[in-house]
Amino acid sequence: RRLAAAHDVEDLRRIARRRTPASVFDYVDGAAETESADRRNVDAFGRVEFVPQVLRDVSSVDPSVRILGKPAAMPLIFAPTGFTRMMHHEGEIAVARVAERVGVPYAISTMGTTSPEDVAAAAPGSDRWFQLYMWRDRSASQELMARAEDAGYTTLVLTVDVPVAGARLRDLRSGMTLPPSLNARSFAGIARHPHWWINVLTRDPLKFAALEGGAGQFMELTDRILDPSVTSRDLDWLRQTWRGRIVVKGVLSVEGARDIVDRGVDAIVVSNHGGRQLDRAVAPLDVLPDMRSALQRDAEIYLDGGVRSGTDVAAAVALGADAVMIGRPYLYGLMAGGARRTAGVRPLPAGFHPHPGPPGGWFGGRRGPSPPAPPDGTWLS
Ligand code: FNR
Repeated sequence: RRLAAAHDVEDLRRIARRRTPASVFDYVDGAAETESADRRNVDAFGRVEFVPQVLRDVSSVDPSVRILGKPAAMPLIFAPTGFTRMMHHEGEIAVARVAERVGVPYAISTMGTTSPEDVAAAAPGSDRWFQLYMWRDRSASQELMARAEDAGYTTLVLTVDVPVAGARLRDLRSGMTLPPSLNARSFAGIARHPHWWINVLTRDPLKFAALEGGAGQFMELTDRILDPSVTSRDLDWLRQTWRGRIVVKGVLSVEGARDIVDRGVDAIVVSNHGGRQLDRAVAPLDVLPDMRSALQRDAEIYLDGGVRSGTDVAAAVALGADAVMIGRPYLYGLMAGGARRTAGVRPLPAGFHPHPGPPGGWFGGRRGPSPPAPPDGTWLS
């Protein structure tokens, strides 16, 4: 009933806040340091003014586009977001099914909580993208790419704006760990949300494989796993290793974009990671027009950060984006109601059950035989 009363993303955000333990909500909602970059992302859209044309025949409007050559129902892509099953036990599978039903691509995260094979099996008709962080262990990155390719992922998204972890103060203050652990600070929040506890913790015991060193705070885990020495030379390696399309996500400087595109990538995402990395980073919308004039049609340009409505999508497209990505908006929806309450989305298949996964484990339900474990057991999902 509450969901029926949600008319925009802010309404979903309010419901999500009530339904989720504060530390989990803050992990999604928060950003780096003073969170000014996140606010700026949203404000940049607020400053856009439209001058509508009138007396046009709009009786039939078709928002469909081609994204990297493939038809999409609208210029929208579901951005990669880590630890999605922490927000709701249906996690990536719910998101993938919605993407499949709506007809837009979904990029699953390296920090995902469902394996790429399971996402592919649950939404076989979706346009599947795989987001890569470069791991300190390159052979682990290569193995992930091989698995994604085998599971039919068409596009690799290399995220380049996390050389080191952003300073997310809400997470430091809440003491949130990945996976969530019961401690004096988290207990109160979890106790106030028994529904979340039952759905997330008891149905799918949280297992985050990469966390062999045990649960840790986000910043510590990120710095333990990701390689801060990545440069544009690694793009040449990537171009030789991945046969499909390559998108580089997290670009804000026009000169940087030129170098990236000259190395043969197919698209860039103008993004400040939803303000979660560098506080006071410029708003992507503010650099978009310059980016488009510099790159012309040499690469597709997507934008993310602060997109909260269809009007925002129209503004970004009018200012030069081929499509936008959204992160928090779909996570608020997931936290507010999961997929089953969304009209037309199929429930999880019968027989879907928690499974410990390969050695090192991954956090997730699965059916059928387990895919091979990654070489070093560090697969995060
Ligand atoms: C993210 N984002 C992200 N990006 C990425 O490349 N890999 C990842 O694992 C994650 N994880 C992640 C978790 C959460 C909870 C959020 C909110 C975001 C960033 C994401 O892809 C995207 O850039 C931003 O979310 C876009 O901003 P909005 O739409 O959230 O304002």
